[in-house]
Amino acid sequence: MSERPELDPGAHALISRASELFSAAPGNPQSPFRYPVLATIGRDGSPNGRILVLRTADPMAWQVTLHSDSRAEKVSELAGNDAAMLVFYDHEASLQLRLKGAIDRSTDSAVREAIWAELPASNRPNYRASLPTGSPISAAGDGIDPAAAQSGYENFDVLTFSAKTVDILQLSRNGNRRYRLDVALGTGSWLVP
Ligand SMILES: Cc1cc2nc3c(=O)[nH]c(=O)nc-3n(C[C@H](O)[C@H](O)[C@H](O)COP(=O)(O)O)c2cc1C
Repeated sequence: MSERPELDPGAHALISRASELFSAAPGNPQSPFRYPVLATIGRDGSPNGRILVLRTADPMAWQVTLHSDSRAEKVSELAGNDAAMLVFYDHEASLQLRLKGAIDRSTDSAVREAIWAELPASNRPNYRASLPTGSPISAAGDGIDPAAAQSGYENFDVLTFSAKTVDILQLSRNGNRRYRLDVALGTGSWLVP
């Protein structure tokens, strides 16, 4: 196996800081990194973005899992174009993280079933809407039946995002610093912030 190229100490420290915030986020509801914006490319080529909860984060592979309703707009967008970006910002740490990569929809029903079984009961009604997410309704709350016949599992999707590049911006009074890492190569470079 080939050795990873050495990063300079400053880059190493910055990547470690971002990676700590990233890996701690799924387990900490107070962490701003738990609520990244997921950007996708719309079916008409226009941009689209929304917040999703970070369910798992693997800082070695810069991979994450996300949950969605399979009928959501984002899922049809990703079926047409799997390119995606996750954008995080932690105000206290003054750190922005932008992961650019692609999303895969899990087709492994054993994996989906295991994750569904672990979901808090309060999350399950999110997948029980009688109409697809984003459908127009005549009044707020229409289309959501808490006693719906379906469990919600049939609409539950697990999305796996894998980053190709990791772009970190550290804001500082002593000078902002920006570094972009290529995940596959393990190399990167400093950029003008
Ligand atoms: C704090 C917060 C957390 C959210 N978490 C999720 C989530 O984990 N999965 C999800 O599909 N939508 C989540 N949403 C809703 C999305 O932002 C979005 O409104 C919804 O998924 C429909 O997006 P779409 O039409 O682009 O598919 C969350 C919204 C907020 C404000």
